[in-house]
Amino acid sequence: MEITFRLNGERVKSTQNPTDTLLDYLREKRGLTGTKEGCNEGDCGACTVIVEDETGPVPLNACILLMPQLHGKSITTVEGLASQDKLHPVQDAMIDEHGSQCGFCTPGIVMSLAAAHASGDTDIEDALAGNLCRCTGYAPILRAAQKAALTAPDTKTPFEPLEAPALLERPESIDELAGIYALRPNATLIAGATDVGLWVTKQLRNLDDVIFLNGVTDLKGITETPDAFVIGAMTPISDLAPLFATSCPSLSEMFRRFSSKQVRSAATLGGNIANGSPIGDSPPPLIALNASVTLRRGEDSRTIALEDFFVEYGKQDRAPSEFVTHITIPKAGLSDLKVYKLSKRFDQDISAVCGAFNITVENGTVTEARIAFGGMAGTPKRSDAVEAALIGQPWTEATIDAALPAFDQDYQPMTDMRASAEYRQTTAQNMLKRVFAESLGQTVSVLDVRGEAS
Ligand code: FAD
Ligand code: FES
Ligand code: FES
Repeated sequence: MEITFRLNGERVKSTQNPTDTLLDYLREKRGLTGTKEGCNEGDCGACTVIVEDETGPVPLNACILLMPQLHGKSITTVEGLASQDKLHPVQDAMIDEHGSQCGFCTPGIVMSLAAAHASGDTDIEDALAGNLCRCTGYAPILRAAQKAALTAPDTKTPFEPLEAPALLERPESIDELAGIYALRPNATLIAGATDVGLWVTKQLRNLDDVIFLNGVTDLKGITETPDAFVIGAMTPISDLAPLFATSCPSLSEMFRRFSSKQVRSAATLGGNIANGSPIGDSPPPLIALNASVTLRRGEDSRTIALEDFFVEYGKQDRAPSEFVTHITIPKAGLSDLKVYKLSKRFDQDISAVCGAFNITVENGTVTEARIAFGGMAGTPKRSDAVEAALIGQPWTEATIDAALPAFDQDYQPMTDMRASAEYRQTTAQNMLKRVFAESLGQTVSVLDVRGEAS
């Protein structure tokens, strides 16, 4: 495939295998070894570069970015950050504040901070959640970020679109995608590649036939109707925390804690659902909200309840050549919804358990309940027995206690490296207690306590 992009200002045309990663291209073909390889799976941020298109600049992990995802975009690596006569303010500040020791993490950290600097993002801890540093300690790095923020970003030159010819493996509309996929039902669809990239870099899988979705413009974006948000499958996860910031802070915070900025900027909502993972973070809250998923195959479209999409572990209700076009999230329920993500590490970690509770209480009685969990079964799954134990009962501690045994009917979780079965069951029950405690206005989060004390 011939990919066209801009690299540190220079227009490049390059013939690539569809699953070549940007990191390998930079280091092996271009000798741009400032971009480091740490984990090669999106976890450490050592390979962070800035990628820009019409929607603005974002930090991305080059190790799980496949070259066709860059068609028509501009890439800046750490080598291209300084202008000819002066360092970038972030580079200056990192030197002044002694923000680097061995330096292995430093290019990635500088790129994440430069991306935050360019977009005026002052939530530095969030900007750095995807960058590991083993030796400096984060305090000097945070000081450097604060110092750099005092210098205004250079006046932004708008992104100059690149003429990037159409590619066979990269359709540009839903209709075109439907036509191509109908002819090649065994092709692997690639959205943000934050799962698929690891099949390539870690499992060394050969993907013989691939179709990239990043050029399909009508799969991207959010439409609001009076009753719902309709979210295109290719909408990045990073767009979702701001979307729910006022209507549902709990859901917004879950999306903020979804991996790191680098991963959220690539990962899509469609990929998070279509991958069928039992520990994906978006299905539990979306099932609790009674969301639906719309699928397209050839000329035909159908819409099903999201909870019915997940049939069993590794199996979704998706026919050959069928793909997700959008997800519809009803607004009703957003004000009641509580989402709790439990992971070993607070940021940049996949959930051990993710619980979502949409419980309506009227005049002291539970009138409706939709509760769903990830990490508790082979698929994201609703808590039918727990819901039945709550509905019609008074919203009291006694009702919560009486509902706890119903978790054993709904779930027989497994033990794996993230958590034991017992821990999962206990924490899921504790989440129900937490919803109740929060409804009484009690402080239940360690971080909330820290926030109040400082
Ligand atoms: P891709 O990797 O492109 O595709 C995933 C699967 O979905 C593939 O089988 C692909 O063929 C299929 N697919 C994609 N789009 C469609 C479509 N429109 N129709 C049909 N099939 C489609 N996940 C979480 O839930 N929470 C986390 O905190 C989290 N942290 C992560 C941290 C790291 C470091 C990494 C590498 C991953 C993490 N993930 C996490 C997993 C991953 O980021 C998400 O599942 C992501 O949403 C996948 O989306 P994608 O666009 O990258 O999908
Ligand atoms: Fe670790 Fe890319 S090398 S995130
Ligand atoms: Fe050594 Fe950060 S300075 S890993």
